[in-house]
Amino acid sequence: MKIVKHFTNVLFLAFVAGLLWLSSCKHDIPIVIPIDPVIPIDTTDITDTTDITDTVEINPDPCDPDSVYFETDILPMLISNCAMSGCHDDASHEDGVILTSYSKVMNTADVEPFDLNDSKLYEAITETDSDDKMPPPPNTPLSSDQVALIAKWIMQGALNITCNANFDSCDVSNVTYSGTVAPILQNFCVGCHSGSAPSGGILLNQYNGVAAVALSGQLVGSITGASGFAKMPPAGGSLSSCNIEKITKWVTDGAPNN
Ligand code: HEC
Repeated sequence: MKIVKHFTNVLFLAFVAGLLWLSSCKHDIPIVIPIDPVIPIDTTDITDTTDITDTVEINPDPCDPDSVYFETDILPMLISNCAMSGCHDDASHEDGVILTSYSKVMNTADVEPFDLNDSKLYEAITETDSDDKMPPPPNTPLSSDQVALIAKWIMQGALNITCNANFDSCDVSNVTYSGTVAPILQNFCVGCHSGSAPSGGILLNQYNGVAAVALSGQLVGSITGASGFAKMPPAGGSLSSCNIEKITKWVTDGAPNN
């Protein structure tokens, strides 16, 4: 008995010594705290997210005007308005939310297909409290058309489908600033290039700013990814070749304010 008791005592002492050793050890080792920890995301209410990938089947069919296409309609808007540095890009991931690809949007922004009320992404862009509203002021808020498009995408099942934007030949016969160029820039560029601190000091939500980069060659240079220019948009894919053709046509026409 005595030996057993002695043995447990030894065990206990060894345990205490071990604890002390461990805790002293802790003080010796510099503890590295991640600067911007990813907040654990509650994904329990999302439909099985494990098989969400960014792989999409290339669809050779023409685009259906009633369908919402993630890569061409939704992602550019999120990249431009939400995924800037300091917000929801891969490096900053504010609140754990990353809006740079389909799988990241589905996994981190709590998008619930067919259910607006349960979709955190939708809640954030329709929030009325200015403290919680996304994008937060002074960023330009999403337009009602943009909010409606995100709602339509969610109500169509928040799918990652594609279509062939170049199915019909690209019609550049009636290209104007207000009817063609401004709407493209609004969807793909204005989130970064507007407000009090526009990216690169370039304002693309008003004619003068657009005309300046059009006439300097920077507009076409950047959207075509020509060498010597920063490629635009910087992430989330390029403009479609038809949109590039249309903008290029308007620039070669002399960038008129029509
Ligand atoms: C996610 C934010 C973001 C989006 C979206 C974006 N830009 Fe930019 N843009 C920037 C930043 C940042 C710079 C300056 C950085 C640099 O020069 O590398 C810049 C620079 C530019 C320049 C100057 C490039 C040069 O090399 O002189 C042009 C022109 C431009 N953007 C046009 C566009 C157009 C057109 C779109 C939409 C098709 C667009 N941007 C979308 C962030 C963005």
